[in-house]
Amino acid sequence: MLGRFFGLFRGKGLIIQGTGKLPEGEARKVDVGDVLAGGRQVILCRVKGKLHALDAECPHEGGRIVPGPLVDGRFAVCPLHNYKFDAATGENDGHLCRAAKTYRVEEKNGDAELWV
Ligand code: FES
Repeated sequence: MLGRFFGLFRGKGLIIQGTGKLPEGEARKVDVGDVLAGGRQVILCRVKGKLHALDAECPHEGGRIVPGPLVDGRFAVCPLHNYKFDAATGENDGHLCRAAKTYRVEEKNGDAELWV
């Protein structure tokens, strides 16, 4: 069933409204589908004016990367062990674990299109 849900968005992104209001160096969480039923949480991050999308699931030990101010204006944080992830690449600062999953996101007229 979840595959069918995500299949609806193949080739066409999910529209996220109001992303143009996300300030520089900040991050916002977006639920994609019913998270309790296997949906995803995505962290949208604004770095140097560009929007980036990270999966909220931390690749270290399954914690959650959180929204909020980005460390040094570009790293999203998982508070479980305070690992930092580059919003643009998903790479862990210090390469202590594998990279967080990233998604394609494009912004237009203050809204974003997200491919998960
Ligand atoms: S589980 Fe995220 S930093 Fe350890």
